[in-house]
Amino acid sequence: MDSVRYGVIGIKGVGSKHVSMAQEHENVELTALVDLDEEAVKTQSQELGVRAFTDYRELLDAGIVDAVSIATPHHLHSIIGLECLNAGVNVFTEKPLANTVSDGDAMIEAAKARDLKICVGHQYRTYRTPQTMKHLIETGAIGDIMRVLWTWIEFRPESYYDRDIWRQTWRHAGGGVLMNQTSHDLDLICWLVGKPVQVSAIIGNQSHKMEVEDVVCANVLFENGAFGSIQLTINQPRGYSIRQIAGDKGTIAIPDVQSLTNNREDHILLGTYENALTDLVGETPRIAGQPEISWQPVELRAEPGGHDLLMASFTDAILNGGEALVNGESALTAVELINAIVLSAMKKKTVDVPVDREEYAELFDGLSSGSLQIPRL
Ligand SMILES: NC(=O)c1ccc[n+]([C@@H]2O[C@H](COP(=O)([O-])OP(=O)(O)OC[C@H]3O[C@@H](n4cnc5c(N)ncnc54)[C@H](O)[C@@H]3O)[C@@H](O)[C@H]2O)c1
Repeated sequence: MDSVRYGVIGIKGVGSKHVSMAQEHENVELTALVDLDEEAVKTQSQELGVRAFTDYRELLDAGIVDAVSIATPHHLHSIIGLECLNAGVNVFTEKPLANTVSDGDAMIEAAKARDLKICVGHQYRTYRTPQTMKHLIETGAIGDIMRVLWTWIEFRPESYYDRDIWRQTWRHAGGGVLMNQTSHDLDLICWLVGKPVQVSAIIGNQSHKMEVEDVVCANVLFENGAFGSIQLTINQPRGYSIRQIAGDKGTIAIPDVQSLTNNREDHILLGTYENALTDLVGETPRIAGQPEISWQPVELRAEPGGHDLLMASFTDAILNGGEALVNGESALTAVELINAIVLSAMKKKTVDVPVDREEYAELFDGLSSGSLQIPRL
């Protein structure tokens, strides 16, 4: 195969970005667009000289794609994704991979069974701030990670949810601030720090009419022993979101995060200690003695990244082997964390990760049917 025949399913929102990427990428031949909106899909397909469909199953029957992007509401990622994979088509789905860990598992298994590729739209990993943080961690600048503090603070009015009703329900969105706005951040936390193994959380809805949560506080234990505290809200204006990742040799701190939704400049500080904290704790004679910490600003690495890098890695993996930059397994970790947070909050208990699939499926059924509701605060 020299080039990848490509279709985009869901074209009116972020799907338009996938359409332009497929047009521009040298190894991709855009062959089809799919959307429920017949007029929109016909008009755009005519302009681009590609086939138009209102039902993705007709696209699969036509046999004109090797890969698709899925840029639809969340619940369709696994439904459409599984049908595509079972038809032998590689899948680049927008985030999240799936609403539940079980649905994510099924996609990953289907891809493995047919040696197909999955890519997930967690393009924040390619942005300059996370790239810089990753580089600092991987080059040992902060040593072994001991603690993480991560807030995500923004405002979403009712008008945002009135525009897209699917974002309001468990069945369609799979969650609120967790799935919709901050699955990128939760993906970043796991990518930077490691896999979560234990979660204790509270979630609620403080100010919106919708079913799903608009505020979250979670404590997370990671497999490397790091302790994390995460606060997420869409009830307050953007500003002073904090990132701190502290290790035994140093701390990365971003006191006022700018890159919440795009690739703006962040002011990253690196604090380093005179010696490893694990040594200093035994060697400091004064009972309230504090290790010296020297702070310096860190230059952001690399060029601004984005979806294009994901698309390039996805098509390269299809044509030449290997994996996409964000493959199914690595994207599943954020779904594990999100499901664990919801499970912990609803059951009022500490939850082990990987999440118990059956327990979460039962809880999710209750939330989706309305027999269970999150606290209104
Ligand atoms: N990676 C990012 O930064 C980013 C940014 C925005 C959105 N997203 C994700 O992209 C996805 C779509 O979000 P959006 O904001 O574009 O939503 P949207 O509601 O604006 O667009 C969804 C599109 O899907 C179409 N659609 C719905 N059901 C369909 C079906 N059965 N078959 C074909 N088309 C169908 C709709 O007509 C619409 O064109 C979500 O998963 C969202 O989380 C990711």
